[in-house]
Amino acid sequence: MSQPAPAAAQQTAPPLVQMENIEKHFGGINAVNGVSLDLYPGEVVGVLGHNGAGKSCLMRILSGAMIPNEGTIRVRGEVVNLQTPHHARDLGIETIYQTLALADHLNAPANLFLGRELKTRFGNLDDARMMTETVRVLKKLNPNFKNLNDPVSSLSGGQRQVIAIARAIYFNVKILIMDEPTAALGPSETAMVGDLIKQLRKEGIGIFLVCHDMHDVFELCDRVVVMNKGTCVGSHDILDVTKDDVLSLIIKGELPADWVPRNRGKEQ
Ligand SMILES: Nc1ncnc2c1ncn2[C@@H]1O[C@H](COP(=O)(O)OP(=O)(O)OP(=O)(O)O)[C@@H](O)[C@H]1O
Ligand SMILES: [Mg+2]
Repeated sequence: MSQPAPAAAQQTAPPLVQMENIEKHFGGINAVNGVSLDLYPGEVVGVLGHNGAGKSCLMRILSGAMIPNEGTIRVRGEVVNLQTPHHARDLGIETIYQTLALADHLNAPANLFLGRELKTRFGNLDDARMMTETVRVLKKLNPNFKNLNDPVSSLSGGQRQVIAIARAIYFNVKILIMDEPTAALGPSETAMVGDLIKQLRKEGIGIFLVCHDMHDVFELCDRVVVMNKGTCVGSHDILDVTKDDVLSLIIKGELPADWVPRNRGKEQ
């Protein structure tokens, strides 16, 4: 298994995202409690933690779908006040959820361009150009993709994920949030989404990957961030930690007492 390039090499570029002291409360629940987190170009950051740790809330805040009570978000160095998913999308932030927001009765091109349809110069939908563009993007992602005219309800979970990823690529996403993208997929489809993540990372896209599968985390991520009861309890280069270290952070909220950073490149 090939390890990702050291994240430190990529951190010479300015950060794509800086989240500082983010807070989100629901009545007495501190869903996100003073979390600071950053993301660099070409970096895959795994966001881990038990159910209810606050991962999705934090990601929804960055995607503009949830407004924080406190905190500052910078995108490419500029402070932003994200109010809607549309606003986040305009800044190059796209989100892919486990339950994809695809319109089941529409085909792949209609879904790829949903809400951002291509029009002819007379203002009509340009179906031909949307089909050509869809073929072009999908070919790049998965040459075996067929059934472009069928409603996406007839596609497998993996094929639906490909459409969601194609949408992100077509609209030139810079920051991709993937909240458990493979939770509903079988092994071969999970592997395919993993390959796509590697491809996007090579193109300099920064990715937050919320994931419960430790194998996928160690296969795909440059860095892991662990949340525990709304707090960030660790952010580590993947080469500095073992699976047991990460499990300790998830379960106990701290590293093992005898932890020292592992040697870079050491076998896990
Ligand atoms: N809209 C909401 N209203 C009230 N409480 C909420 C809301 N959304 C999340 N919460 C609460 O905030 C906390 C964090 O939830 P969140 O969905 O971020 O967890 P998570 O880490 O994504 O968990 P999972 O692994 O189960 O997806 C939980 O206690 C949850 O019940
Ligand atoms: Mg969640």
